[in-house]
Amino acid sequence: MFVRRVAVVGVGYVGLTTAACLASLGHRVVCADIDKRKVARLLEGHVPILEEGLTELVAEGLASRRLDFVVGAANAVGDAEVVFLCLPTPMGAGGAADLSAVEAVIAEVRELLPADCVLVTKSTVPVGTAARVVELLGRDDVSVVSNPEFLREGSAVRDFMHPDRIVVGSDVQHAAERVSALYARVGVPTVLTSAASAEMVKYAANCFLAMKLSYVNAMAELCERLGADIADVAEGMGFDHRIGQSFLQPGPGWGGSCLPKDTHALLRMSEAAGFDFALVRATIDTNEQQRDRVVEKVVAAVGGSLDGVRLGLLGLAFKAGTDDLRDSPALAVARKLRERGADLVAFDPAVPAPVAGVTDDVLVVGDPQQAVKDADAVVLLTEWPEFRKLDWADLAERMAGRVVVDTRNLLDQDVLRLADLDTVGIGR
Ligand code: UDX
Repeated sequence: MFVRRVAVVGVGYVGLTTAACLASLGHRVVCADIDKRKVARLLEGHVPILEEGLTELVAEGLASRRLDFVVGAANAVGDAEVVFLCLPTPMGAGGAADLSAVEAVIAEVRELLPADCVLVTKSTVPVGTAARVVELLGRDDVSVVSNPEFLREGSAVRDFMHPDRIVVGSDVQHAAERVSALYARVGVPTVLTSAASAEMVKYAANCFLAMKLSYVNAMAELCERLGADIADVAEGMGFDHRIGQSFLQPGPGWGGSCLPKDTHALLRMSEAAGFDFALVRATIDTNEQQRDRVVEKVVAAVGGSLDGVRLGLLGLAFKAGTDDLRDSPALAVARKLRERGADLVAFDPAVPAPVAGVTDDVLVVGDPQQAVKDADAVVLLTEWPEFRKLDWADLAERMAGRVVVDTRNLLDQDVLRLADLDTVGIGR
C-alpha cells in the first residue's frame, strides 16, 4: 500500500473520523481547524464528540505520529498529496446547502496546494459543486474529486472501517484512483464514477432512507387505525431482501445533522432543475406530520389538554448513541408540547446539562428519577437501551399519572403493566 500525505480540513465528526481512520490505515494525516481551542484539546488527545472508538484511534494516531492537528488550513496543505474538505454545509436560506465554509477554505489554500495534489470534497455538497470547485481553484495541476461520506453518528468509526461501499467521483480518472487507493486496506466495492454522480449518490441514498422512515411512520399510523401492529408488519416486510430489515423502526420522526438537511437540499436542487420531486416533498411533510401525531398522542394520553400538565421526557438526542441535538425530533416534539402549555423536565444520558438556545423548552435534569417525578405522563423520545432497563416500578411510584408514551416502541409493555403503568406506543 502507498502511504500518502493527507490533509483534512475541518475536524467535525466527519473530518475527525476520516483523519483518525486514515491514520490508522497507515497514512500520514495533518488535520486543520479554525477553532484553536479544539485543536489544542485534540493535541492532548481530548475528543470533543461522543463517537465509539474515536478517542482510542486519535490517541494511537498521535502516539505513532501519523496524526497531527494544526490551526488553519494553510498550515496543513503545504506538502499534502490529498486534501479532504470536511466542512459544514448547513441548510442555508430556502433549504439550499450553504457553501460559504468550503468557498472560504478554497480561497485560503488555492495558491498553497502543491502541484499534482488532489482536492477531495467529503462533506455533502450540491451536485455540481466539484465542477464549481475546479473553477474557484483555477489550477490545471490540481484535480478535484468527490468522495461522499456515509458515516452514521455513533458508529462512524465502524462505518469508515467496514463500509458497504466507497464512492469516488472525478472527471480526472487518475485522481479518482489515487483517492480510492487510500482505502485499499478497507477492501470493499468501490464505485468509480463522475464527480456529479458521486455527489448525487449521497443525496439519493439519504433521501431514500428518509423516505423509508416516513413510509414506515405513515404505515404505523395506518396500522393503528386498522388494528395491525407495525412491529410485525415491518418484520414481515423486512425479510424481503429487496426491502431489508434496517431503517424500519417507527419513531417520533427522523432528524439529525444529515437527513433533514439533505432532503431539503435535494428538493431545492430539483426545483432549480425544473423538476417537481413530489416524493421527496411528501417525505419531508410526512415527517412534520409524524411529530404532530406524537404530540396528539400525548394530548390524548393526559385527557385532552396539555395546559399546566407536567411531562417527564426521556431522551433529547436525535437518536441513541450520540449527544448530538441537531435537528433532534425529541426537541421538535418538546417545542410543540411546550407551545401547547406543558411543563417539561427531561433526562438524556448524553446531555448532562442544559444547552443554551437549544434545550430552552425543557428543564434538563441529571437522572430519570428526577425527570419523572410528579409527571402526569412520561414521554420516551430517544431509543437509549438503558431506558428499557430502568426500574419502572420505582419510577411509577414517583409519577403522578399512569401513562408512558413510548415513541420508539422500546419499552417492555409487560414490565410496565406490572408497574401499573399504561404504555402508548406507535403503530400498535
Ligand atoms: C445518516 C445516514 O444514515 C448516514 O449514512 C449519513 O452519512 C448521515 O446521515 P445519522 O444522521 O447519523 O446518519 O443517523 P441515522 O442513524 O441515519 O438516523 C437518522 C434518523 O432516523 C434519527 O433521528 C433516527 O432516530 C431515525 N431512525 C433511524 C428511525 O426513526 N428509525 C430507524 O429505523 C432508523
